[in-house]
Amino acid sequence: MACLQHAGILAGAACAASVLASLPALANADDVEAAARAAIAANCERCHPPLPDGGWEVMTLRPHDREEMAFLLYRMEEEYSAFPSDDEAAAIIAFLSGFE
Ligand code: HEC
Repeated sequence: MACLQHAGILAGAACAASVLASLPALANADDVEAAARAAIAANCERCHPPLPDGGWEVMTLRPHDREEMAFLLYRMEEEYSAFPSDDEAAAIIAFLSGFE
């Protein structure tokens, strides 16, 4: 079962912590960006089309820190059936929490 598929806010928070712990697997910022862009294309672009500035509709309207991003991903899963894998979620959180 994917980490983010547990029910309940507390499970979501525990899950976010384990997602953050797995980040060092991605070596550098370019790897993180490439992994995140692929994960977003696969899981998110059907609702968040890409924008000419390199961002995505609604998704990159305003900045989010890691904790908010982890929770938003959990909410995207609960409310909109977006089911990234744990690795995809880790890359998305790492990339979007640094997105300007
Ligand atoms: C089925 C449609 C759908 C999918 C799939 C989806 N989203 Fe969303 N997302 C929305 C809608 C609608 C909103 C705005 C309303 C809300 O926040 O619930 C939103 C809001 C957001 C926000 C909050 C923006 C803000 O500043 O409030 C972020 C971040 C986000 N999505 C990221 C993602 C990511 C990352 C994925 C892929 C893993 C994803 N979404 C997949 C529909 C979707």
